[in-house]
This record gives sequence, structure tokens and C-alpha cells, in this order.
Amino acid sequence: MAYQIQRGTYDAYGEDALNLQKIEDSFKVFAETYGYTFIKTPTYEQTELFTRSVGESSDIVNKEMFSFIDKGGRNISLRPELTAGVMRAVVSNKLYALDLPLKYYYCGNVFRYERPQQGRYREFTQFGVECIGINNYMSDAETISLGYNALKNIGFPHVILKINTLGDEKTRENYKNALRAYFENKIDDMCPDCKRRFETNVLRILDCKVKEDQEIVKDAPRIQDYLSKEAKEYFDKVLELLDEQSIEYEIDDTLVRGLDYYSQVVFEYHFISKDGTNLGAIGAGGHYDNLLHDVGGPKLSSVGLAFGLERINTLLKEIDPENYQKFGLDLFVIHLGEETRQYSFILTQELRNNFFKAEMCLENKSFSAQLKLALRKNARYALIIGTDEMAKNSYGLKNLTTQEQIEVKYEDLIDTLDEILLTGEFDDEE
Ligand code: HAM
Repeated sequence: MAYQIQRGTYDAYGEDALNLQKIEDSFKVFAETYGYTFIKTPTYEQTELFTRSVGESSDIVNKEMFSFIDKGGRNISLRPELTAGVMRAVVSNKLYALDLPLKYYYCGNVFRYERPQQGRYREFTQFGVECIGINNYMSDAETISLGYNALKNIGFPHVILKINTLGDEKTRENYKNALRAYFENKIDDMCPDCKRRFETNVLRILDCKVKEDQEIVKDAPRIQDYLSKEAKEYFDKVLELLDEQSIEYEIDDTLVRGLDYYSQVVFEYHFISKDGTNLGAIGAGGHYDNLLHDVGGPKLSSVGLAFGLERINTLLKEIDPENYQKFGLDLFVIHLGEETRQYSFILTQELRNNFFKAEMCLENKSFSAQLKLALRKNARYALIIGTDEMAKNSYGLKNLTTQEQIEVKYEDLIDTLDEILLTGEFDDEE
């Protein structure tokens, strides 16, 4: 019996797997330049952690969690995002007692029982950062800039940054009252999700994707008219820092985000490709004031963001298929004749131990068959070893792009490879 892959999941291999890895590596390097260090938290947590943090009114908690009772009778959920787990780790390990802000980056798989479609999976990968324990417009601006610059750095020619403020608690209280008053006599005609949101978190109605409801939402009160003086000043200062870095943004006052823990500034990054592909947000985040406290820690503000690596991978492939990384070997060792096979095996191992991506054919095959294999594996060079070469400890090194060939002695092999792989220069002056 052949087993089917589960809906909304995928197997990554070949170029896709390679590029997913490269995206993660590149974000890691970038996050480290902003002073973040790695944190790893478990894939599953107590369900209540997510109900408290992501929120009862969110679609994630309401409809999308992979929850189960474990063998010990505990109510467990696979993480639908990583922020809540990071906050739990900060509390469990009393990390808030260290120098603040704590700056952590993470990368891991997350699970949401969504309706699968292009760019939307049930298991996907998030790379994110959390800057914990600081309430300062500069850390919001820094986080937003990090996300924007990381996306540019990885190959997005332009990024649409949507930004909004949900204001402070005073703002939200006043605004929610205004929304309740507005929707009160319209809610009966709206979708079941809106009805539920009206009761649990009226703000989230603004996020409704149902066309008829969006018509109603269009004329709802705007948050700008309810911002407290402090909240407006805070938002303006964040925008000013973005302006000063020439980071372009669109203020979108319907942006409320799908998770309940946000306050103040929220943002999303989007990219629409030339052929119109829009996979939704490729990254998103915001400021949150109460989350750490809600999961049992002190009342400290934080800001963070997360990218969806699969969406980014799909778009990067479309943006620049030529540059989309192909897996390539540094060199392929070609052995001519049975006597040289074992010698080549040992040499290949030595090359690998010196961190060259080296491969050889373990079987006895003709020169042309091995050369074809080298080309299929995108090897840059072939190291050719016949019985004469073996006796002299000196080999032919062939550039598989230009077809040029030089002689390299065993004792010079590592240095020569280092040099040519780094510079691309290939000559046989010696
Ligand atoms: P989020 O907006 O729910 O935020 O998810 C972040 C990113 O994950 C999205 O922008 C998108 O790229 C990707 N994503 C979401 N759902 C899917 C899906 N079903 N399939 C593929 N990719 C998806 C959060 O999770 C927050 N924890 C972000 C954050 C960190 N806020 C503060 N700190």
C-alpha cells in the first residue's frame, strides 16, 4: 500500500530544500548582525498557552490548532506560531532577570489546520525574532527595519510594508466601543465569524475576508480618530525613523493582524510578483505589551516578527530563476581503471574532510560515464586520476565550464582548490 502525503504538507528536496536552507541561513546571519541570538523551544506546548496568548477570538485558536490529549491526559497543541513558546521559555527560565532587552531569533515548523492553497500549508516554517522587555519606539523601528532589510538582502527587489497602530489600551477601549456601536445593528447580516468576533474581539471584524462584510467594514470608524495623544506620538516616531532610513511603507488602518496579543504598532511585508502572484504576507509582526505577563511573567513590552519561509522560497524562485541556487559540487573525482578506484576513494574522503563538496562514482565506470555524472551533479571541477597520475601523485584538474585543464600535485591540491574556488582563477603557471 502506498501512503499518501497529508493535505497541506509537502516534501522538500533538491533545489527547494537547498534554498529553504539558504533562506534560513541568510536570515540567521542577518538577525545576528542586529544582536539576536538563537533560541529553540519545543514543537508542542500546553494548549492553554496558545488560548491565552494567541487568543480565544483568533481563527488560529478557534479553528486551526492541532490539539490532542497525550497519554498522560494533558491537553497539548502543536505550536501554531513561536512567539508564545518563546515567552513561555522566558518565564520558565526566568530569562527576564538577564540584561534587557532579550533578543532571540528562532526557526521552526508550525502547524495550522487551514484550507490548503498556494502559499498556505498546514505545516510550514517560520523564522522570527523577538525583542523582549523594552517599550521604546526605537526597538519597534529597529525590528521593522530588520525585516525589511533582510527581505531586500535575500533578493526581493521591492517590498510592500503595510503598517498600522492599534494604539495603547485607552485607545483600543475607546475604539472597540465605537466599533461595537457601529456594528451593533449590522452584525445580524454578517458572517458567523464576524458574529463570534463581535462578542470576543470586535477589532478582528476589520480583518474579515467575506466580500459583503468588507462593504460594511469600509464605513466603520477609523482607529486614527481614536488614538490617544501618546499612541499617536509613538506611532509617528516609529514612522519618522523609517522615513529617515528611506524605508517606504503604506499606512493601512484595516490591518489588525490575526493574533490577539498585539498593541501599538503592527506590520506586514508583502510582495507581488510581475505576473501578479500574491501569496499574502511573507512576514508580519508587531508590538505586544501584555503577552509575557499573560503567560506568567512580569509586565514587560516586546516587539517581534516572523517570516513564512515557504512563501519566500516560492517567490524568490519566480523573481530570479537563474540565480535560484542549484546544488553543486566543488569537484568530482574521476578514476580511470579499477586500480585507481580505492586510491580515489581515500583522496575523496580527504577532500571532504577539508570541507570541499566532493563526490566520486563508487562503481567502475567509463571516463565518459563519470564525466556525465559530474555534469549532472553540477560539479565545477573534475579531478582526473589514472594509473600514471596515481604513481606520480599528480592529477589533472579540469574546469568543467571552460574545459581548461591543469596539473596539480598532491601536496598543492588543497591550496590550489581553495584558491580557484574562491577566485575562480584557473591557470597552470607553476
Ligand atoms: P503570522 O502573521 O500569523 O504571525 O505568521 C507570520 C508569517 O507566517 C506570515 O506572514 C506568513 O508568511 C507565514 N504563514 C502564516 N500562515 C501560513 C500558512 N498557513 N502557510 C504558509 N505560511 C504561513 C505570527 O505567527 C506571529 N508569531 C509573528 C510575530 C512574531 N509577532 C510578533 N512576533
